[in-house]
Amino acid sequence: MVCIQPPHDRSDVPKKRQTDLSRHLSAEARVRLPNPIKTIWKVAQVKPGTINMGNGDPHHTLYPVCEMNFVVPSIDEADPVQAWRAGTGEQQIIASYKDEPCALSLRTALAYGAGAGLKHVRDALADLNNRIHAPPNHTVSLSLGNADALTKCFRLFGDPGDSFLCEEFTFSAMTNAALPLGINWVPIRMDKDGLIPSDMERALSSWDELSQGKRPHVLYTIPCSQNPTGSTLPEERRRRIYEIAREFDVIILEDDPYFFLQYDLDIETTTVESYGFTRAMASVLPRSFLSMDYDGRVVRLDSFSKILAPGMRLGWVTCNDFFSEKLDMLTDSSSQHPHGLGQAFISELLGSHGWGIDGFMKWVSSLCNEYERRRNLFMDVFRREVQVTGLASAETPKSGMFVWIKVDLERHARYRKVESPEYPGGPVSNTAELMNELFRKLLDCGLVMMPASTFAMPGRIGKCPTDGHINDRVNYFRATFVGTDEVIENGLGIFSRGLEEFFSL
Ligand SMILES: Cc1ncc(COP(=O)(O)O)c(C=O)c1O
Repeated sequence: MVCIQPPHDRSDVPKKRQTDLSRHLSAEARVRLPNPIKTIWKVAQVKPGTINMGNGDPHHTLYPVCEMNFVVPSIDEADPVQAWRAGTGEQQIIASYKDEPCALSLRTALAYGAGAGLKHVRDALADLNNRIHAPPNHTVSLSLGNADALTKCFRLFGDPGDSFLCEEFTFSAMTNAALPLGINWVPIRMDKDGLIPSDMERALSSWDELSQGKRPHVLYTIPCSQNPTGSTLPEERRRRIYEIAREFDVIILEDDPYFFLQYDLDIETTTVESYGFTRAMASVLPRSFLSMDYDGRVVRLDSFSKILAPGMRLGWVTCNDFFSEKLDMLTDSSSQHPHGLGQAFISELLGSHGWGIDGFMKWVSSLCNEYERRRNLFMDVFRREVQVTGLASAETPKSGMFVWIKVDLERHARYRKVESPEYPGGPVSNTAELMNELFRKLLDCGLVMMPASTFAMPGRIGKCPTDGHINDRVNYFRATFVGTDEVIENGLGIFSRGLEEFFSL
């Protein structure tokens, strides 16, 4: 395990409390045995010179590769992303070798490894974590991206019949993966700033174990560029959510693939000049749940998917060493370990012959500028083409890739209140049907935007009298602004025309 050193400057983080967290484990996680072959393999790694005749690893001399060259943008450019896009920037070649010195030998990268990933890569990511979140007493393991890590976490904590909390609109690709495990989702209300802490508190404090089963002990949340709503949780809310999680003994699954893509950042040039990009970025990036965690209840998931490339299939999980060990055991007996070529590439990129950590953060900062430009373009075109119709509106997102577009359906001639005494707690409007119709119309016009119904988590009807039915709130589309200028202009043009036609029907 790679242990991250305690922070020097987190005076607001109380000292670590040793808590027994085993009560959160699922029955599956409790009975899981270590992979016995990996256990012996790990012993064989410890003493240099040990002759290992025990494992079924192919011999490295028979790997049909001895060198890999990666051509990447030079990080010496003032604005590396712009120079790379324009094709004017310098390039840099970083190489991995099997038989020559490099950051991570292909002998190691291409061999079977430990589920937690290679120490070299974990050390680099622990260093990055430490400089950004400074989490006391946490451990880093690699994953095959956040989807892999999340599904493993669901298995780590979820038993059939368990209830987990989530945002009322959420990344259904992942929440659906928990359903076959028998996990029920309990949606928490949101507003433009994301999950509303008081509603989380209400859900937990009013929980009735007799009628609802075990009280939720896990919160799944996407704090930055919440997928799909694009909201970013303000720091006060994060603090409040963490306190509620402590009060009700809830584990926080912090799924944060958009964390590094923040906009309108006020990065001090003097800080960059004196201390480098990592420190400068760390001072303006949002405060993560991990950075507040002193009793080990946060499992943070980071990914290279949005800041390098999704096909890398590489991410990292940061959590207390007890959970980390259990997750590593699951990996040891399933996907085995993350992608070797990806680990080789990252090692070289973050190593002394590549960008290094600070160069990587320079790239991230430059990427933020480019996505911020695209977001601004999207919002300008949106105001000009769409908002002007008075039929839809949107908040400007502070991070990530998504704009959550609200359609003012109440202005549609066929919008109806359909309250039915036969279905108390059911939808009271035909919002869902109209949105479905609009979605199909846009599709016919050659435009796909994700309808809110794709992400809506239906609550248990009748359980919460303060909640309306979620089908009355699905009058939104998720749109991304990551495309080219042309895609943004054309897409929003189609949206505006389609919307006007639909409202005249
Ligand atoms: C909120 C969220 N979680 C997880 C993922 C999956 O990320 P990864 O590519 O790291 O598996 C995505 C991808 O879009 C996402 O938006």
